[in-house]
Amino acid sequence: MSVLITGIGELTTNDGPALAAAALVLDGDRVAWTGAAAAAPDADERVDVGGRAVLPGWVDSHTHLVFAGDRTAEFAARMAGEPYTAGGIAVTVAATRAASDDELRSVLRRHVAEAVSQGTTCLETKTGYGLTVADELRSAKLAAEEVDEVTFLGAHLAPADVSTKNYVDLVVGEMLSTVAPHVRWADVFCETGAFDEDDSRAVLTAAASHGLGLRVHGNQLGHGPGVRLAVEVGAASVDHCTYLTRSDVDALAQSDTVATLLPACDLSTRQPLPDARTLLDSGATVALATNCNPGSSYTSSMAYCVATAVLQMRMSVAEAVRAATWGGARALRREDVGVLRVGARADVHVLDAPSVTHLAYRPGVPLTHAVWRAGVRVR
Ligand code: NIG
Repeated sequence: MSVLITGIGELTTNDGPALAAAALVLDGDRVAWTGAAAAAPDADERVDVGGRAVLPGWVDSHTHLVFAGDRTAEFAARMAGEPYTAGGIAVTVAATRAASDDELRSVLRRHVAEAVSQGTTCLETKTGYGLTVADELRSAKLAAEEVDEVTFLGAHLAPADVSTKNYVDLVVGEMLSTVAPHVRWADVFCETGAFDEDDSRAVLTAAASHGLGLRVHGNQLGHGPGVRLAVEVGAASVDHCTYLTRSDVDALAQSDTVATLLPACDLSTRQPLPDARTLLDSGATVALATNCNPGSSYTSSMAYCVATAVLQMRMSVAEAVRAATWGGARALRREDVGVLRVGARADVHVLDAPSVTHLAYRPGVPLTHAVWRAGVRVR
């Protein structure tokens, strides 16, 4: 079954300059053709989008969606002046452990559906609210039912009743061997109050020996070793990057580790916004992601991240849109998403606007008109 999407006012492909008066053909779950509407081939079905802008579906490369419970009170306290600390994670761990599989599945599905309805077509999500072998395994299996990419984050926080040393031993031993077959990635929260540089390196090295790709939560709440370590171990991405030194920026610019920025989290935790401009000007690859989780960043809106990046982080609209699509794909080492080129997955986002500029020009306005995910119209 092929679909001709025509009448495109502005087509962003991430595979060349944006095109006006364009069309796109989807064949099954792949992109089959892109180009000028006047030259488009026939297809089984024709959808005229009436001059609207079309872009690749968002690639949200950082979320924590296997959770239960609610942290509204913690958020309210933060807005009243309390600082964000890693310790809040324990509240979600208790609720997640107490939830049934069906309760967790239902929360996960609700948030995935919420993201897809806003144009997100490729999602990563993490374990990390289980923190026992059985609970981390359960989280990984549930995540694998619903999202494209699953990350093991057993090293999110040492539970209060286990010493950090004993917990790291568990993570690099039985927990990794049990969970690794169900995930593609491993991550560690390398931050004061979570795991220090040596513990983080031990987790990442052990994960690599199980054949997992690496990701790091780093430099979220202060300067620290996360970025340097991520580059040292060849991580695909280091996420947050809120506090960077010149040497962190240089290390990123000289590596293929993506700097994944999570502006919704920085706003929700009253942190400064990351210096996207210096990263981009230095040649680092930048991704934008939501970090959707019940503690530090409870939004699934990639459009909100894009608007924030443009309005407050001095990214151009084109840079922000690219970071939220192709940048996310680079952070996940995917060539088939975040781009509309022949052979790529047919993940298409139609905006109810003539140009992607409206994402920042009309912040907070729901602009998703239609979405295809792997060739299936889902909105
Ligand atoms: O990316 N930084 C660590 N993990 C999450 C926070 C999770 C939470 O507070 O529940 C983050 O912000």
